[in-house]
Amino acid sequence: MSRLSVAQIIPGVVLLLLSAVGILLLVLPNRDVRIPPESMYGIVLDAGSSHTSLYIYKWPADKQNGTGIVTQHSECHAKGGGISSYAGVPGGAAESLKACLDQAMKDIPKSRHHQTLLYLGATAGMRLLKIVNATESDRVLKEVGNKLRSYPFKLKEATILSGAEEGAYGWVTVNYLNENFVKYGFVGHWVNPGKRTIGALDLGGASTQITFETSEKVEDSREMKELNLYGQVHRVYTHSFLCYGQDQFLKKLMAHLIKTQGAKPLIAHPCYPRNFSMSIKLGEDVFDSPCTKSFRPAQFDPQMSITVQGTGDNHNCFSIVQKIFSFDNCSYSKCSIDGVFQPNVRGNFMAFSAYFFTYRYISQLSNISITSISQMEKALELVCNMTISEMTKRIKQPEKYMRRVCAVSHYIQFLLKQAYKFNDASFPSISFQEKVGGTSVGWALGYMLILSNMVPAESFALTKALPAGPWACILFLFIALLFIGVGYLLITYKKTRTKEGMV
Ligand SMILES: *[C@@H]1O[C@H](CO)[C@@H](O)[C@H](O)[C@H]1NC(C)=O
Ligand SMILES: *[C@@H]1O[C@H](CO)[C@@H](O)[C@H](O)[C@H]1NC(C)=O
Repeated sequence: MSRLSVAQIIPGVVLLLLSAVGILLLVLPNRDVRIPPESMYGIVLDAGSSHTSLYIYKWPADKQNGTGIVTQHSECHAKGGGISSYAGVPGGAAESLKACLDQAMKDIPKSRHHQTLLYLGATAGMRLLKIVNATESDRVLKEVGNKLRSYPFKLKEATILSGAEEGAYGWVTVNYLNENFVKYGFVGHWVNPGKRTIGALDLGGASTQITFETSEKVEDSREMKELNLYGQVHRVYTHSFLCYGQDQFLKKLMAHLIKTQGAKPLIAHPCYPRNFSMSIKLGEDVFDSPCTKSFRPAQFDPQMSITVQGTGDNHNCFSIVQKIFSFDNCSYSKCSIDGVFQPNVRGNFMAFSAYFFTYRYISQLSNISITSISQMEKALELVCNMTISEMTKRIKQPEKYMRRVCAVSHYIQFLLKQAYKFNDASFPSISFQEKVGGTSVGWALGYMLILSNMVPAESFALTKALPAGPWACILFLFIALLFIGVGYLLITYKKTRTKEGMV
């Protein structure tokens, strides 16, 4: 009988175990599996033009630097309009935030309330109100600030973000969530993953932003931001188009139709579904915004009510959408629209907010998986021909979203193709996404990360990470140990058999 004695096996088995453990420790990503005793929290209120959202972020109390550490804890969407819609309604904006702030009081453990940083950033809705009436926009902001101060959280800032800030913060969010800045490495240290960054495409209610890293010369210095993150300089092109958010775009489209058809009681709208009609007031719904100023008739009755009748005409919808964009007056070597310089798009992009929802609607409505511009055109032809009841039946979404799908999709398609100059080769590099790993994609997270210095300018710990060379050496030694262990066992086993054979 060939049997190894325990004393013969032990050294080999110990060697095997030792080397296996060593190799596993080196190769497996070293993440903290234990739940940290307590989390830290931060709150950002995204005061958009159409509504306000509150996001609560959390991270382990003992760590804050590096990507993938901050995640979204919860979110809350305030009922009613954006804070700018409460112009002339004292108390309205503050009241609109109450429900979400009360929710935040419950979502965040009481012991952390006083350490929780609170930020409010208002975007294009408030930028427009500031143009119309700066006194009133100041009053709304002050009112909202006072409301925030009545909670135990640490209010750091309640302000109107510039378009460039909005674009840059969105870009930071996208790349933070994709771990493009730094990555948690195999030996428990942060390393630079050496990945290229992703561009950000954001479509809100009143403005739209395009932001991406470029090595081209940015001919208009106002559109160039140098972001210093983790010791690396990123040259980022960003532009925010005010009045090109989906709501303001629809207003301009309406104003254009009224201008061309005349301010009469019935207006035909090729982008709205067949048999769909709605009633609007000239003063409140169309000419209340600085974005439609250039379309305004010399004289009109703001109280006049007109009926908008949808005709569901894909071809005509495309031609009127096109008329809202201007390609004239470019004083640079090249422009996107309205005389705005733009370098060539490059690399991957993430398109979020209204881009994502519209993309999802037309994909689901048409049942086409859209990966090229021509597929998008095909989907649009189907969607623009549907009646509103066909749409709501098919994807169970409220009418207020469905009626605008055709118009907004044509708008997005035109913006991407004609303005930003994505083509069939670069279109597939756009990923339409709402969330990354449970965290909403938008400017809010990037805003908090930058303002709280959680994405620091200088590099840290990068040099502490075990460099690839020594790591490979140690791994090699453990593998060698593994072979020695196996070799030892084999030899001992053979020797025993030979001995037995002689007996
Ligand atoms: C994060 O990085 C900043 C800047 O390098 C540093 O001041 C701060 O102490 C770091 N925080 C933690 C928790 O490591
Ligand atoms: C601007 O708002 C203030 C109230 O904050 C109001 O008194 C004033 O009349 C408004 N101005 C215009 C031009 O609407």
